[in-house]
Amino acid sequence: MSQARLASCIPLPLEHRTLVSVVEKAKDWALMHGVGMRDRKHFTKDAIQIAPFVLLPSPFPKTEFTKAIELQPILNELMHKVAHDDEFLTNTLQNALQVDEFTANLFDIWVKVRDEGMAQPISLGMLRSDIMLESRCPHTENQCAKHTPYCSWKQVEINSIASGFGHLGPVSREIQSYILRQLGQAELLKNMPENRALSGLCSGITEAYDLFGVPGSVVLFVVEEVSYNICDQRFHEFEISEKRPDIMIYRRTLTEIYEEATLNDKKQLILDGHTVAVVYYRSGYEPAQYPTAKEWDARLRVERSTSIKCPSIHYQLAGTKKVQQALAAPGVLEKFMGAGAATGRVRDIFTGLYSLDFDESGERAVDMALADAERFVLKPQREGGGNNLYGADVREALLRMRHSRERAAYILMERILPPLVSGYVVRPGAAVPPPLTDLVSELGIFGVIIGTKDKIYCNRQAGHMLRTKLADANEGGVAAGLGALDSPFLLDM
Ligand SMILES: Nc1ncnc2c1ncn2[C@@H]1O[C@H](COP(=O)(O)OP(=O)(O)OP(=O)(O)O)[C@@H](O)[C@H]1O
Ligand SMILES: [Mg+2]
Repeated sequence: MSQARLASCIPLPLEHRTLVSVVEKAKDWALMHGVGMRDRKHFTKDAIQIAPFVLLPSPFPKTEFTKAIELQPILNELMHKVAHDDEFLTNTLQNALQVDEFTANLFDIWVKVRDEGMAQPISLGMLRSDIMLESRCPHTENQCAKHTPYCSWKQVEINSIASGFGHLGPVSREIQSYILRQLGQAELLKNMPENRALSGLCSGITEAYDLFGVPGSVVLFVVEEVSYNICDQRFHEFEISEKRPDIMIYRRTLTEIYEEATLNDKKQLILDGHTVAVVYYRSGYEPAQYPTAKEWDARLRVERSTSIKCPSIHYQLAGTKKVQQALAAPGVLEKFMGAGAATGRVRDIFTGLYSLDFDESGERAVDMALADAERFVLKPQREGGGNNLYGADVREALLRMRHSRERAAYILMERILPPLVSGYVVRPGAAVPPPLTDLVSELGIFGVIIGTKDKIYCNRQAGHMLRTKLADANEGGVAAGLGALDSPFLLDM
């Protein structure tokens, strides 16, 4: 069975000279507009290099795009409810906690903060729901009755911490618009949807700041030791600085927070003499970002404070793979959303998600995956890419863990098979012109939600990003050098 294919936005291949010339122009455009990252091999703070990008926007069906945009506020609210359901989080995570130290440490912080009473009832959620078109279709052998090369889209996962590409998403549209204009295809720009992810996400931060309501307070970005994805982070700072010159932004690692930030007797987080209004985590989602007990201590200190956190610790727990899997179990969406039409719409975006807990249903899932490992992805409770297992590795890991409680730290997910599209990926240091390759895309829809357990102050969709990778690659992290920046070219199908 050959994989379904979507037509590219203009006929390919491009003529050699045209391709070389437009790639050279595009690289310079990239460097001059922040389509960049820091070089991992030759790191210096004095230079950025181009981030990998797809030369032309990748096709995406308009109806499916619209559906994803419209669904986002519903997903935001669902996540908000999940994050505030103590019993559900506790029950869902309990088996994974016994075998996954990282999630257990996060959970312990949540329990401590909850037991002493949350100093700040408001949370800021800046979420990103990642989705892929599914080319296999249950309706007919291979193709939908619509005879389109996709059936619908399915959710890969929803991110609740450090959901990046608020800048790189929109700027991908801008660079590809420039490229299409240089190719004499300006009339195609109308198929590229506007993308206000950067301003949408930043206004989430400033709205939370205003709700905090302390004049002269500051915003704290929690950052990694070295930020390779520096453009994406800095453009958030530039945007806030432009719109709200009254707001100062600090960047600190967890280690620096341990050393420099204090809690006063009102549980305000004080940094450099200023009260911290909003804490925005761009780090803190993987074990390596907590190398010692100091970083865990810093995290606890922040969570205990009155600052509005993005995300608060319970929001981070709500974004775990285990929670996503639990939401797909029968009756669970209904518990959070009732039995209305919205529940059905959310259920439709789930692909097969299975628990690997040490019980009968976990056993069935293990058997099912061992029988056809290629159909599945095995996922631990991790963020940041590069942790999932695919194909033969799924089989090997399950054979190894089958009789061990360790398997409860993972979930099993059906693999989505998106349609292919041909395209050129421009990479730093690679030969020009790039080869024409088969690619697949993953769309991320941003959402912003601010609220307490009982009151929602704002809930909206906030732009999008598209990442594209080689069709035979398992994962597509752009910062990891696997995926490439892209933007959708909407098709009426
Ligand atoms: N069910 C699936 N079918 C196909 N591909 C998948 C599936 N799940 C994950 N992937 C691929 O693996 C990548 C990483 O998966 P996932 O987003 O679940 O992990 P993560 O570590 O949380 O990554 P991120 O840092 O992007 O949040 C996805 O971007 C996608 O390319
Ligand atoms: Mg993730």
